Amino acid sequence: MVLQAVADIPAETGQAPTPPKHVAIIMDGNGRWAARSGVSRSRGHRKGADAVKEAIEGAIINNVQYLTLYAFSSENWNRPEDEVTDLMGLLKMYLKKEIRTLNKEGVCLKVIGCRDTLSPDILKLIDKAEALTKSNTRITLVIALSYGSRDEITLAVKEIASKVGLGTLKPNDISEKTIEEHLFTSKIPDPDLLIRTSGEQRLSNFLLWQSAYTEFLFLPVLWPDFTQQTFTDAVLEFQSRDRRYGARP
Ligand code: FPP
Repeated sequence: MVLQAVADIPAETGQAPTPPKHVAIIMDGNGRWAARSGVSRSRGHRKGADAVKEAIEGAIINNVQYLTLYAFSSENWNRPEDEVTDLMGLLKMYLKKEIRTLNKEGVCLKVIGCRDTLSPDILKLIDKAEALTKSNTRITLVIALSYGSRDEITLAVKEIASKVGLGTLKPNDISEKTIEEHLFTSKIPDPDLLIRTSGEQRLSNFLLWQSAYTEFLFLPVLWPDFTQQTFTDAVLEFQSRDRRYGARP
Protein backbone atom coordinates (compact mmCIF):
# COMPACT_ATOMS: atom_id res chain seq x y z
CA MET A 1 0.00 0.00 0.00
CA VAL A 2 1.90 3.09 -1.22
CA LEU A 3 -0.28 6.09 -0.73
CA GLN A 4 0.28 9.58 -2.06
CA ALA A 5 -1.54 12.32 -0.20
CA VAL A 6 -3.92 14.35 -2.37
CA ALA A 7 -2.28 17.57 -1.08
CA ASP A 8 1.14 16.30 -2.29
CA ILE A 9 -0.16 16.22 -5.87
CA PRO A 10 0.51 19.64 -7.43
CA ALA A 11 -2.74 21.52 -8.01
CA GLU A 12 -3.11 23.17 -11.41
CA THR A 13 -4.52 26.37 -10.01
CA GLY A 14 -4.77 28.04 -6.62
CA GLN A 15 -4.37 26.52 -3.17
CA ALA A 16 -5.70 23.12 -2.18
CA PRO A 17 -8.69 23.52 0.19
CA THR A 18 -8.08 22.50 3.81
CA PRO A 19 -9.04 18.90 4.59
CA PRO A 20 -10.85 18.08 7.82
CA LYS A 21 -8.25 17.49 10.54
CA HIS A 22 -10.39 14.85 12.27
CA VAL A 23 -13.00 12.58 10.67
CA ALA A 24 -15.18 10.30 12.82
CA ILE A 25 -17.24 7.48 11.34
CA ILE A 26 -20.24 5.49 12.56
CA MET A 27 -19.76 2.35 10.50
CA ASP A 28 -23.35 1.18 10.09
CA GLY A 29 -25.04 -1.33 7.80
CA ASN A 30 -23.01 -4.55 8.03
CA GLY A 31 -26.15 -6.53 8.93
CA ARG A 32 -28.24 -5.06 6.11
CA TRP A 33 -25.40 -5.63 3.64
CA ALA A 34 -25.29 -9.28 4.74
CA ALA A 35 -29.07 -9.69 4.41
CA ARG A 36 -29.03 -8.12 0.94
CA SER A 37 -26.15 -10.32 -0.15
CA GLY A 38 -27.75 -13.47 1.29
CA VAL A 39 -24.80 -14.16 3.63
CA SER A 40 -24.42 -14.39 7.43
CA ARG A 41 -24.12 -11.29 9.67
CA SER A 42 -20.66 -12.59 10.53
CA ARG A 43 -19.65 -12.34 6.86
CA GLY A 44 -21.10 -8.80 6.80
CA HIS A 45 -18.90 -7.77 9.73
CA ARG A 46 -15.85 -9.31 8.01
CA LYS A 47 -16.60 -7.26 4.87
CA GLY A 48 -16.95 -4.31 7.26
CA ALA A 49 -13.40 -4.93 8.48
CA ASP A 50 -12.19 -4.74 4.84
CA ALA A 51 -13.95 -1.38 4.50
CA VAL A 52 -11.96 -0.17 7.55
CA LYS A 53 -8.81 -0.49 5.41
CA GLU A 54 -10.48 1.60 2.69
CA ALA A 55 -11.35 4.30 5.23
CA ILE A 56 -7.80 4.44 6.60
CA GLU A 57 -6.34 4.68 3.09
CA GLY A 58 -8.93 7.34 2.22
CA ALA A 59 -7.98 9.32 5.32
CA ILE A 60 -4.26 9.11 4.53
CA ILE A 61 -4.57 10.19 0.90
CA ASN A 62 -6.76 13.12 1.98
CA ASN A 63 -4.24 14.28 4.60
CA VAL A 64 -6.63 13.72 7.51
CA GLN A 65 -4.69 13.66 10.80
CA TYR A 66 -7.19 11.82 13.03
CA LEU A 67 -9.68 9.11 12.06
CA THR A 68 -12.05 7.80 14.74
CA LEU A 69 -14.05 4.64 14.04
CA TYR A 70 -17.02 3.52 16.17
CA ALA A 71 -16.28 -0.22 16.24
CA PHE A 72 -18.34 -1.37 19.24
CA SER A 73 -20.64 0.70 21.44
CA SER A 74 -21.43 0.16 25.11
CA GLU A 75 -24.95 -0.76 23.90
CA ASN A 76 -23.60 -3.38 21.46
CA TRP A 77 -23.02 -5.69 24.48
CA ASN A 78 -26.82 -6.23 24.35
CA ARG A 79 -26.59 -8.01 20.97
CA PRO A 80 -26.94 -11.82 20.90
CA GLU A 81 -23.96 -13.53 22.54
CA ASP A 82 -22.74 -15.20 19.33
CA GLU A 83 -22.62 -11.84 17.50
CA VAL A 84 -20.71 -10.20 20.39
CA THR A 85 -18.21 -13.10 20.39
CA ASP A 86 -17.88 -12.81 16.63
CA LEU A 87 -17.24 -9.04 16.71
CA MET A 88 -14.71 -9.36 19.54
CA GLY A 89 -12.96 -12.16 17.61
CA LEU A 90 -12.82 -9.95 14.53
CA LEU A 91 -11.37 -7.04 16.50
CA LYS A 92 -8.76 -9.33 18.06
CA MET A 93 -7.80 -10.67 14.64
CA TYR A 94 -7.59 -7.11 13.30
CA LEU A 95 -5.31 -6.02 16.16
CA LYS A 96 -3.09 -9.09 15.62
CA LYS A 97 -2.94 -9.16 11.82
CA GLU A 98 -3.13 -5.54 10.71
CA ILE A 99 -0.95 -3.88 13.30
CA ARG A 100 2.35 -4.43 11.45
CA THR A 101 0.92 -2.92 8.24
CA LEU A 102 -0.54 0.00 10.19
CA ASN A 103 2.81 0.58 11.86
CA LYS A 104 4.63 0.53 8.49
CA GLU A 105 2.13 3.08 7.16
CA GLY A 106 2.93 5.45 10.05
CA VAL A 107 -0.41 4.97 11.83
CA CYS A 108 -0.56 5.72 15.56
CA LEU A 109 -3.32 3.60 17.14
CA LYS A 110 -5.37 4.64 20.16
CA VAL A 111 -8.34 2.82 21.64
CA ILE A 112 -11.03 4.71 23.58
CA GLY A 113 -13.85 3.25 25.66
CA CYS A 114 -14.50 1.38 28.90
CA ARG A 115 -11.45 -0.86 29.19
CA ASP A 116 -12.75 -2.63 32.28
CA THR A 117 -15.50 -4.28 30.21
CA LEU A 118 -12.97 -5.84 27.78
CA SER A 119 -11.39 -9.28 28.18
CA PRO A 120 -7.71 -9.54 29.30
CA ASP A 121 -6.59 -10.97 25.93
CA ILE A 122 -8.03 -8.07 23.95
CA LEU A 123 -6.59 -5.57 26.47
CA LYS A 124 -3.16 -7.12 26.02
CA LEU A 125 -3.40 -6.76 22.23
CA ILE A 126 -4.54 -3.13 22.58
CA ASP A 127 -1.64 -2.28 24.93
CA LYS A 128 0.84 -3.94 22.56
CA ALA A 129 -0.58 -2.19 19.46
CA GLU A 130 -0.65 1.22 21.18
CA ALA A 131 2.93 0.80 22.44
CA LEU A 132 4.22 -0.33 19.02
CA THR A 133 2.66 2.60 17.13
CA LYS A 134 2.89 5.39 19.71
CA SER A 135 5.65 7.36 17.94
CA ASN A 136 3.98 7.29 14.51
CA THR A 137 2.85 10.67 13.22
CA ARG A 138 1.26 10.19 9.78
CA ILE A 139 -2.25 9.67 11.12
CA THR A 140 -3.85 8.79 14.46
CA LEU A 141 -6.41 6.00 14.19
CA VAL A 142 -8.78 6.05 17.15
CA ILE A 143 -10.89 2.93 17.63
CA ALA A 144 -13.91 3.43 19.88
CA LEU A 145 -14.42 0.07 21.57
CA SER A 146 -16.99 -0.55 24.28
CA TYR A 147 -17.48 3.19 23.96
CA GLY A 148 -20.50 5.22 25.04
CA SER A 149 -20.45 8.98 25.22
CA ARG A 150 -22.73 9.19 28.27
CA ASP A 151 -20.47 6.68 30.08
CA GLU A 152 -17.47 8.81 29.14
CA ILE A 153 -19.06 12.03 30.42
CA THR A 154 -20.25 10.30 33.62
CA LEU A 155 -16.73 9.00 34.30
CA ALA A 156 -15.28 12.47 33.71
CA VAL A 157 -17.79 14.00 36.15
CA LYS A 158 -16.89 11.37 38.78
CA GLU A 159 -13.16 12.08 38.42
CA ILE A 160 -13.69 15.84 38.62
CA ALA A 161 -16.00 15.46 41.66
CA SER A 162 -13.43 13.32 43.42
CA LYS A 163 -10.73 15.99 42.84
CA VAL A 164 -13.11 18.59 44.29
CA GLY A 165 -13.73 16.26 47.27
CA LEU A 166 -10.00 15.91 47.84
CA GLY A 167 -9.58 19.68 47.63
CA THR A 168 -7.19 19.54 44.64
CA LEU A 169 -9.69 21.31 42.35
CA LYS A 170 -11.98 24.28 43.14
CA PRO A 171 -15.52 24.15 41.66
CA ASN A 172 -14.99 27.65 40.25
CA ASP A 173 -11.93 26.49 38.35
CA ILE A 174 -13.91 23.86 36.40
CA SER A 175 -14.01 24.93 32.75
CA GLU A 176 -14.82 23.28 29.41
CA LYS A 177 -11.10 22.50 29.20
CA THR A 178 -11.26 20.65 32.55
CA ILE A 179 -14.07 18.46 31.21
CA GLU A 180 -12.26 17.84 27.92
CA GLU A 181 -9.13 16.80 29.80
CA HIS A 182 -11.14 14.11 31.63
CA LEU A 183 -12.73 12.57 28.54
CA PHE A 184 -11.28 9.48 26.79
CA THR A 185 -10.53 11.84 23.88
CA SER A 186 -8.32 14.25 25.86
CA LYS A 187 -5.51 15.53 23.58
CA ILE A 188 -7.53 14.53 20.48
CA PRO A 189 -9.10 17.50 18.65
CA ASP A 190 -12.88 17.55 18.17
CA PRO A 191 -14.05 15.91 14.92
CA ASP A 192 -14.54 18.32 12.02
CA LEU A 193 -16.61 15.82 10.06
CA LEU A 194 -18.75 12.92 11.28
CA ILE A 195 -19.96 10.40 8.72
CA ARG A 196 -22.66 7.80 9.35
CA THR A 197 -23.30 5.18 6.71
CA SER A 198 -26.45 3.13 6.00
CA GLY A 199 -28.91 6.03 5.83
CA GLU A 200 -29.62 6.18 9.58
CA GLN A 201 -29.51 9.74 10.91
CA ARG A 202 -28.61 9.65 14.60
CA LEU A 203 -25.54 9.85 16.83
CA SER A 204 -26.12 6.65 18.85
CA ASN A 205 -24.19 7.85 21.92
CA PHE A 206 -21.05 8.71 19.92
CA LEU A 207 -18.85 11.74 20.74
CA LEU A 208 -21.77 13.80 22.12
CA TRP A 209 -19.59 16.43 23.81
CA GLN A 210 -16.95 16.48 21.07
CA SER A 211 -19.38 16.98 18.16
CA ALA A 212 -20.83 20.33 19.29
CA TYR A 213 -19.60 22.01 16.07
CA THR A 214 -18.96 18.99 13.88
CA GLU A 215 -20.33 18.81 10.34
CA PHE A 216 -22.53 15.73 9.87
CA LEU A 217 -22.78 13.68 6.71
CA PHE A 218 -25.32 10.85 6.48
CA LEU A 219 -24.61 8.57 3.54
CA PRO A 220 -26.95 5.90 2.08
CA VAL A 221 -24.03 3.54 1.40
CA LEU A 222 -23.86 0.43 3.62
CA TRP A 223 -20.56 0.23 5.51
CA PRO A 224 -19.11 -2.83 3.65
CA ASP A 225 -19.47 -0.85 0.39
CA PHE A 226 -17.51 2.15 1.74
CA THR A 227 -14.39 2.87 -0.36
CA GLN A 228 -11.48 5.32 -0.52
CA GLN A 229 -13.50 7.21 -3.14
CA THR A 230 -16.47 7.48 -0.73
CA PHE A 231 -14.05 9.04 1.76
CA THR A 232 -12.67 11.50 -0.82
CA ASP A 233 -16.21 12.49 -1.87
CA ALA A 234 -17.10 13.08 1.80
CA VAL A 235 -14.06 15.34 2.19
CA LEU A 236 -15.13 17.33 -0.90
CA GLU A 237 -18.63 17.73 0.56
CA PHE A 238 -17.08 18.91 3.86
CA GLN A 239 -14.99 21.47 1.98
CA SER A 240 -18.15 22.97 0.46
CA ARG A 241 -19.69 23.60 3.91
CA ASP A 242 -19.65 27.03 5.55
CA ARG A 243 -18.62 26.62 9.21
CA ARG A 244 -19.51 29.62 11.35
CA TYR A 245 -19.41 28.20 14.91
CA GLY A 246 -22.46 30.27 15.84
CA ALA A 247 -20.89 33.53 14.67
CA ARG A 248 -22.31 35.82 11.97
CA PRO A 249 -20.63 35.70 8.53
C1 FPP B 1 -22.96 -1.70 12.61
O1 FPP B 1 -23.61 -2.50 11.64
C2 FPP B 1 -21.62 -2.18 12.80
C3 FPP B 1 -21.11 -2.68 13.97
C4 FPP B 1 -21.90 -2.78 15.21
C5 FPP B 1 -19.74 -3.20 14.05
C6 FPP B 1 -18.69 -2.41 13.36
C7 FPP B 1 -17.54 -3.32 13.13
C8 FPP B 1 -16.84 -3.41 11.99
C9 FPP B 1 -17.02 -2.51 10.85
C10 FPP B 1 -15.80 -4.46 11.78
C11 FPP B 1 -14.62 -4.46 12.64
C12 FPP B 1 -14.01 -3.16 12.98
C13 FPP B 1 -12.68 -2.92 13.04
C14 FPP B 1 -12.19 -1.61 13.55
C15 FPP B 1 -11.69 -3.89 12.58
P1 FPP B 1 -24.90 -3.33 12.06
O2 FPP B 1 -24.46 -4.71 12.41
O3 FPP B 1 -25.63 -2.62 13.16
O4 FPP B 1 -25.70 -3.30 10.72
P2 FPP B 1 -27.29 -3.23 10.56
O5 FPP B 1 -27.76 -1.98 11.23
O6 FPP B 1 -27.46 -3.19 9.07
O7 FPP B 1 -27.83 -4.49 11.18
